[in-house]
Amino acid sequence: TKAQAWSALFSEPMSELVQRYTASVFFDQRLWQADIMGSLAHAEMLAAQGILSAQDLADIERGMAQIRAEIEAGSFAWKLELEDVHLNIEARLTQLVGDAGKRLHTGRSRNDQVATDVRLWLRGEIDLILGLLAELQRALLAVAEPHVEVILPGFTHLQVAQPVSFAHHMLAYVEMFARDAERMQDVRRRVNCLPLGAAALAGTSYPLDRERVARTLGMVDAQGNPCVCQNSLDAVSDRDFAIEFSAAASLCMVHISRLSEELILWMSQNFGFIQIADRFTTGSSIMPQKKNPDVPELARGKTGRVVGHLMGLVTLMKGQPLAYNKDNQEDKEPLFDTVDTLKDTLRIFAEMVGGQTDPATGARHGGIRVNAQAMEQAALRGYATATDLADYLVKKGLPFRDAHETVAHAVKEAMARQLDLAALPLEVLQGFHPAIGPDVYEVLSLRGSLNARNTLGGTAPAQVRAQIARHRARLGG
Ligand code: ARG
Repeated sequence: TKAQAWSALFSEPMSELVQRYTASVFFDQRLWQADIMGSLAHAEMLAAQGILSAQDLADIERGMAQIRAEIEAGSFAWKLELEDVHLNIEARLTQLVGDAGKRLHTGRSRNDQVATDVRLWLRGEIDLILGLLAELQRALLAVAEPHVEVILPGFTHLQVAQPVSFAHHMLAYVEMFARDAERMQDVRRRVNCLPLGAAALAGTSYPLDRERVARTLGMVDAQGNPCVCQNSLDAVSDRDFAIEFSAAASLCMVHISRLSEELILWMSQNFGFIQIADRFTTGSSIMPQKKNPDVPELARGKTGRVVGHLMGLVTLMKGQPLAYNKDNQEDKEPLFDTVDTLKDTLRIFAEMVGGQTDPATGARHGGIRVNAQAMEQAALRGYATATDLADYLVKKGLPFRDAHETVAHAVKEAMARQLDLAALPLEVLQGFHPAIGPDVYEVLSLRGSLNARNTLGGTAPAQVRAQIARHRARLGG
């Protein structure tokens, strides 16, 4: 019974319900690799400090190797009554190697152990996420590159605003995901710091070498210096590293969600700008004509779930007195689900946006298919070059505010005739201002408008090509 799991102090076993209520083993087992890694680093240091014998260390290493094999083979018997991953592994170790297993926990508490495990695990997940973010950026570049000259209406207020290059639009998302990667890198520095040695809350009376453990676990900064949590109370009790990871993950999902919203709009019959591969869509059980963008819709929905987990974690933390409280066990499910959701979403988006590359031929299949004609026709419908006409008049000497007013009259006239500005005869345009000459038609064309926006970060093809080159150099292969 559970009574024996603790000590002779307890006069009755824990009730069934309390056992189930307090156990975490069915979700925290995913920390097993981190738990073994942390225990081995701790044991190695205890031996180096003369706290454990060489024989004990050898026994612990042998036992852990077997436990690793058992877990990998799926034959490890996880026990609810042993509460969590830490106690399960320690109990099995003692079963396998006897007293050496009982000595492993010297100078350690589950409080510094669990904080260490979560950090080690999250560090590995962040590295995977960084790889997936790079993949997604490459996918966006692969779609952008052949479409630098494709023009779509840029929107503000979802009203046609000015023509932009489709590639430029895709590169806006590359910028967002690049910042998401930077944020993940930054969070990683603070995740990668060692709580072990803080013990339960106050430190320990054994002569531990915490820096040695940090080095063994790769918890070092860019200069190779060990990163060790400097206050034992803080080390075991704060989960700010998990919260800031969730915040970074939430922002990343918000970017995914905005992209999703655009893909959904662009796919609708009223836009018809793009298609995505059939394998990312679903049909309808009643309407035979339907192809629904389920993947981007679901990603938009899952963004709410990830943001919700962030709120959950912040709220979990806010009322806790120092130091460790069992509340912190509740950090795991939201954190794990955030990681799972973000990884799956990034993976699926990289393929949905960029398609798959055939390893044999290097050819891409799937990915966003662009309907350039539909985009350009839409850009022609909304007087997207009106600003260009105003700029043209400014170059002819008008103050901008007067030019703005003059063009408003021209647009009103064009609307009445149901024509684009560029389709108005020269005499009609000159009726609005005599300075208008035949060179106005280049200015009023979509392409003329695009080429004119040749400032750093602008949509002119030359600028967009330079940005693609910069991103390629930054991301490599
Ligand atoms: N399962 C616990 C958690 O996830 C491990 C730490 C428990 N420590 C304790 N003193 N009860 O936080």
